[in-house]
Amino acid sequence: MSAKPVGQDSRLERALSLEIVRVTERAAVAAARLRGRGAEKKSDQAAVDAMRRELSGLAIDGTVVIGEGEMDEAPMLFIGEKVGTGSGPKVDIAVDPLEGTTLCAKNMPGAIATLALAQDGTLLHAPDIYMDKIAVGPGYPRSVVDLDAPADENIVNLAKAKGVKPEAITAMILDRPRHADLIGAVRKAGAAVSLITDGDVAGVIHTADPEKTGIDIYLGIGGAPEGVLAAAALRCIGGQMQTRLVLDTEEKRERAAKMGIKDPRRKYQIEDMVKGECLFAATGVTDGRMLRGVQFGRDVIETDTVVMRSTSGTIRWIRAEHRHLDKFK
Ligand code: FBP
Repeated sequence: MSAKPVGQDSRLERALSLEIVRVTERAAVAAARLRGRGAEKKSDQAAVDAMRRELSGLAIDGTVVIGEGEMDEAPMLFIGEKVGTGSGPKVDIAVDPLEGTTLCAKNMPGAIATLALAQDGTLLHAPDIYMDKIAVGPGYPRSVVDLDAPADENIVNLAKAKGVKPEAITAMILDRPRHADLIGAVRKAGAAVSLITDGDVAGVIHTADPEKTGIDIYLGIGGAPEGVLAAAALRCIGGQMQTRLVLDTEEKRERAAKMGIKDPRRKYQIEDMVKGECLFAATGVTDGRMLRGVQFGRDVIETDTVVMRSTSGTIRWIRAEHRHLDKFK
């Protein structure tokens, strides 16, 4: 494989891929303590604090490019914030310390703590606005589906490529009024729709393993930061994703322009959102189809994490038992 590792040294990159597990684990545990309390802001803040603390000890010279907001609106993990000890490789960092704040607040399935790390200057700087997304897993011809094609055409083409009828295809879509027509069109084409109330990073990742998840395609509009994180995961795991920022007001176009977006109508592929090699990690906060949530025992805390590395394509599922509980206070 000719891929260049994140940073200069592949051994360092391999070590980092395990180090970042600790970062998402800590954030997940902090958020999970507040599961089901109806406290969206508090649990998000707890995850942010824990993630920031853990990131500060990482041997990287990191810059947050996808974070909790712009500098003046986010006190921590803001876009542009420097993280890490400053002594390691120069990297871009995308974080969502609590993806699915509502899921956590209501103790519903699918909340995760997630992070991606990539070579310096290679992650798309996406403002916190909406992004239109379409994603399918690995093994299909390039452009088997297209963001600009009608939904029914995408379903029929995907079914053909998979060698099944459209009835055997399942699409995952966020349950939002804005998706009413999309859901109708997918169903009309014969496919089933699996609706989620939140959490489209995991939603997109589901397409990578349809055998296990039952999801063949992800469609619809969600957060742009979540889109970049999902693209990092698919870059590691394989699959196709196309996106476009929803820049429907002058204010959003200006914000995007400030972040270096020159063409507001640009259709992004994975390689445009994550230009270099990357690492991706996610730890379950609440139980989900992909990851188990944090389990609090009397003497042990258990976490469930997936960590991926694009250079090698390795995906590790890490079930950890933590015994020094004082570290998780
Ligand atoms: P938060 O964790 O920031 O609440 O995001 C959850 C989420 O469902 C994302 O997964 C998704 O991209 C976005 O919200 C969709 O936004 P909206 O709730 O405005 O439709």
